[in-house]
Amino acid sequence: MKPGGPFKTPPSRRLPPLPEEGAAPDASGTSDASGAPDAPASLSASRRSRVPAFEVMRITDEIARRRLDGHDVVSLCAGEPSARPTPGTLKPAGYTGPLGTSPLREAVAGHYRNWYGVEVDPATVAITTGSSGAFQLVFLAAFDPGDRVALVSPGYPAYRNILTVLGVEVVEIPTGPATRYQPTPGLLDAAVEQHGPLAGLVIASPANPTGTMLGRAELVALVEWCRRNGVRLISDEIYHGITYPSGAGSNGGAASAVRSEPHASDGIPDPRGVTLRELDPEGIVINSFSKYWGMTGWRLGWALLPASLVRPMEALASNFALSPPAPAQELALSAFEPETYAERDAIVAGFARARSLILDAERELNWGVAAPSDGAFYYYSELGPQLERHGTSVNYARALLEQADVAVVPGVDFDPIAGSLAVRLSYAAGEAAVAEALDRIIRFQA
Ligand SMILES: Cc1ncc(COP(=O)(O)O)c(C=O)c1O
Repeated sequence: MKPGGPFKTPPSRRLPPLPEEGAAPDASGTSDASGAPDAPASLSASRRSRVPAFEVMRITDEIARRRLDGHDVVSLCAGEPSARPTPGTLKPAGYTGPLGTSPLREAVAGHYRNWYGVEVDPATVAITTGSSGAFQLVFLAAFDPGDRVALVSPGYPAYRNILTVLGVEVVEIPTGPATRYQPTPGLLDAAVEQHGPLAGLVIASPANPTGTMLGRAELVALVEWCRRNGVRLISDEIYHGITYPSGAGSNGGAASAVRSEPHASDGIPDPRGVTLRELDPEGIVINSFSKYWGMTGWRLGWALLPASLVRPMEALASNFALSPPAPAQELALSAFEPETYAERDAIVAGFARARSLILDAERELNWGVAAPSDGAFYYYSELGPQLERHGTSVNYARALLEQADVAVVPGVDFDPIAGSLAVRLSYAAGEAAVAEALDRIIRFQA
């Protein structure tokens, strides 16, 4: 049986050995020019992640590596039928290592060199079933029940819901235009004062639902705050690469002071976003093939781990999912080819045009305060005067769908309290859909 089943596996060097448990974190990639703070003390893995790895999956990983090195390994190890192609339509595929194939982990490390100029040890890359899979495993590996983890509101609801399922206490930090809907050291100090010490902080830049980004200085300030307070920082970078550095589109609607502010990515040398890995080897980066690469259904993402979390993650991953999907990992290798980046950047240019249509229509929409849509493909706005007629964003969204066949998301998903005033538009649907939707919305409101 070939490694990875019937899918071809490109030649690759071996992954370097995994770091030992409790080993000092790898500080590679921290550059003086980045303004990164000094190396932190290592945070420990959760107590509950101290489960044995599923040995079969570790051996499966080792077999794949030996085969890449040219060994003719006879495996009587995993309980999997032969993954050789059969004459029928079925295409069997074998398990991979619990943290993914060596070629893909190396390719992800190469992506960090390419986009950010940051060296990442491939042994610290964990391939997961979407970033959603990464969140589950990382939260399990990093936090114990009763730990307190902060998030911003409005924010992506699954952070809050997964943490709650895992018995972690969620501290929601209400944010607004004053801080670009992002956390700040001041807001974190206030949260600690109100709720007690935090074990973790989850951030996203660009964020969902607001699309706002953290600049480099703001991210450095958060890293420093987390270090001072012994807080594990987790950065969701799933929308990296979907940013609008030229500030494309007008900010015509003067109703909100926020709209006339420059975009976080304007003119600064981090057009893809600033990766936490560059600033903080103890931080955890989570990313995915879902958004920039448009591969939502392949269910593939990754986490960049501090060295001390690699073994706990391997133990959890090998028991929970055995391995990420093999065919998706095979396909994902082509994500990092130059032609693919060019194709995807062209798609992002289309998002930028769709975004401009919305920004240009702000005056006519006559809504309230909108978040500056620095990146992702979201426009999050209070409905302002429209609430006089509809009362809440839930009523507005329902009426809009029933009467005009336009679907938007009421903000309550992202912010259970202030979300009843706001809606989120996704302009991932593209220019034509957005133009049609705007026409219908304006007619609906007339
Ligand atoms: C901010 C954010 N993080 C994570 C995800 C999960 O994506 P996936 O599991 O497809 O990687 C999403 C999906 O919309 C998202 O918006």
